[in-house]
Amino acid sequence: MHQDMKETLISEAQIAEKVAELGKVISADYKGLDPLCIGVLKGAVPFMADFIRKMDVPLEMDFMAVSSYGASTKSSGVVRILKDLDTSIEGRHVLIVEDIIDTGLTLSYLVDLLKGRNAASVKIVTLLDKPAGRTVELKPDYFGFTIPDAFVVGYGLDYAEKYRNLPYIGILKEEIYQKS
Ligand code: XMP
Ligand code: MG
Repeated sequence: MHQDMKETLISEAQIAEKVAELGKVISADYKGLDPLCIGVLKGAVPFMADFIRKMDVPLEMDFMAVSSYGASTKSSGVVRILKDLDTSIEGRHVLIVEDIIDTGLTLSYLVDLLKGRNAASVKIVTLLDKPAGRTVELKPDYFGFTIPDAFVVGYGLDYAEKYRNLPYIGILKEEIYQKS
């Protein structure tokens, strides 16, 4: 385990098993629909890369980068688009691929935005769901693991842009936060 980590929450093997399971279930649901999988940068990159290789239907992939406004305006649910999609999604079956849902603000904004572009359907797969953090009602169509209300890193998730490369998901030692 990395020296900055307090505990491993989800191991590399547990992630691999769950991602394969999600691929199987979601492939069956999207048979004949040629989904457009949209990864949310940067956190969803490892999950997206592993997940699409467990999908056995024809699909396309694209990415969006978004950032929430500061804490004071966060309750408005407005997010800033840093990178938009490359193509039109009109009539497409869109599957948003996300690392984690916490408050739900980011994804509820994205879902509304993409529905407004006349997608045929918009669904969400998130690796992690933290329901205790929710401030708006939002349920993922598919999720990997429900986690407690703790800040987690690894497998795409960062603290100050670090730890995204860890192959497992864990909780940082308190002193790492307290240093900065
Ligand atoms: P919402 O809008 O659902 O935002 O609150 C989800 C985004 O918040 C970040 N996030 C985390 N990042 N560990 C992280 O590294 C966490 O425990 C965590 N909880 C929320 C993340 O960027 C996610 O996309
Ligand atoms: Mg994210």
